Amino acid sequence: MKSIKVPLKELNNTRKKLMEKQLMNMDYKIKTQNEYGFIPINSTEFESEYEIVDTTLEPIKRYPKNITELLKNDLSSKEIEDLKTSFDIIGDIVIVEIPQNLEDKKSKIGQATLDFTKRKSVYMKKSAIHGTIRIRDLELIAGENNPITIHKEHGTRLKLNVKEVYFSPRLATERKRVSDSVRENENILDMFCGIGPFPIVIAKNNNVKITAVDINENAIKYLNENIRLNKLHNIKTICGDINEVSKHLNEKFDRIIMNLPGLAYEFLDLAMKLISDNGIINYYEFSDSYGQGIERLQKAAKKENKKIEILNTRKVKSSSPGMWHIAIDAKVTS
Ligand SMILES: C[S@@+](CC[C@H](N)C(=O)[O-])C[C@H]1O[C@@H](n2cnc3c(N)ncnc32)[C@H](O)[C@@H]1O
Repeated sequence: MKSIKVPLKELNNTRKKLMEKQLMNMDYKIKTQNEYGFIPINSTEFESEYEIVDTTLEPIKRYPKNITELLKNDLSSKEIEDLKTSFDIIGDIVIVEIPQNLEDKKSKIGQATLDFTKRKSVYMKKSAIHGTIRIRDLELIAGENNPITIHKEHGTRLKLNVKEVYFSPRLATERKRVSDSVRENENILDMFCGIGPFPIVIAKNNNVKITAVDINENAIKYLNENIRLNKLHNIKTICGDINEVSKHLNEKFDRIIMNLPGLAYEFLDLAMKLISDNGIINYYEFSDSYGQGIERLQKAAKKENKKIEILNTRKVKSSSPGMWHIAIDAKVTS
C-alpha cells in the first residue's frame, strides 16, 4: 500500500492537507511506527515534501450503509431505486419484486436485501396475486425458509403464513383510518377478512362487535390465533363463502367492510341487504377513478330502495400503472 511517511508531529497537519486534496485513501487505517506515521494515499502523482513508501496497512472495515452501496456493482442506480419501492416487509420476512431482466441476480439481490433490512427471510414474487383466496407464488432467495411470521401493526400482532394467506402491510394506514372512524358499539361485518387485520385493529381500539368471514380456512385459522394473541373477545369468525354464510346471519350491520377490490362489486347487492339504516359500507375496488364505484354503490342501493351518501373517497395504494386500489365510504339510508 502506497503511503506517505511523516514525522509524528506533522501527522495531523499532513493528514488534513491530503484529505482536503482528496489524496488520502480512506479505505485503510493510518499506522504509526518508530516516530513516524504512515498515511495511505490513492495517488503518487503529486508533490510531497515527505517520502512515499510501500507499507502494509490495515483495511478499514466498512459495513454497507444501505442497499445502494450493497448493490452498486451489480445494478444501475435506477434499478436499485425501482427495487426499493418493491419491498414489502411483513414481520421477519421481506417480499421483493425482481424484474425479469434482473432474475439472474436474484441471489445477490436477496442477500443484499437481507443485510439491509436485517430480517430473516427474503422471498421473491413469482406470480401476481391470484385465485379466490388471493395469494401469490413465492420463492425463497435468501435466509431461512420459514413463511410464518408475526407482523406488528398499530399496536397489534398479526400472525400469518405469507404463502397461504393474503396480507398487505401497505394497507396499514387505511386500517387505522377505518378504525378511527368507527363509532361506539358498532356491529361490524368484515365480508373478506383474511387473517383479520381490519377486525383486529378495530377491535383493539374500539368497543364493538365484529363478525369476520373468509373463504380461506388458513386465513380463519390465523385470525383465530390473532384474536388470542391480541387478547380480544369481541370477534366472531366464520369460514365460508359470504354468499352462503350470509344466509345464516340473522342480523343487520352498522358497518360492512368489503376489501376484495377485484370483485367486491359482485357482493354489493348482498351488502345492501345486510346493512342497517345509516350504516356505512367501506367499499374497495381497483379503478382509475371513483365514478365507477360510486355508480355501482348507487345502483345496488336503488335495488333495495335505499340511498347512499358518499362520506369519503381515497386512493389506498397504487395497484398497476394508472390504476389504484381505491376506497369509498358510503352511508346507506332508506
Ligand atoms: C384482498 S384479501 C383481503 C383480506 C383482508 N381483508 C386484508 O385486508 O388483509 C380478500 C380475501 O377475501 C377472501 N374471499 C374471496 N372470496 C370470498 C368469498 N366469496 N367469501 C368470503 N371470503 C372470500 C379471500 O380468501 C381473501 O382472504
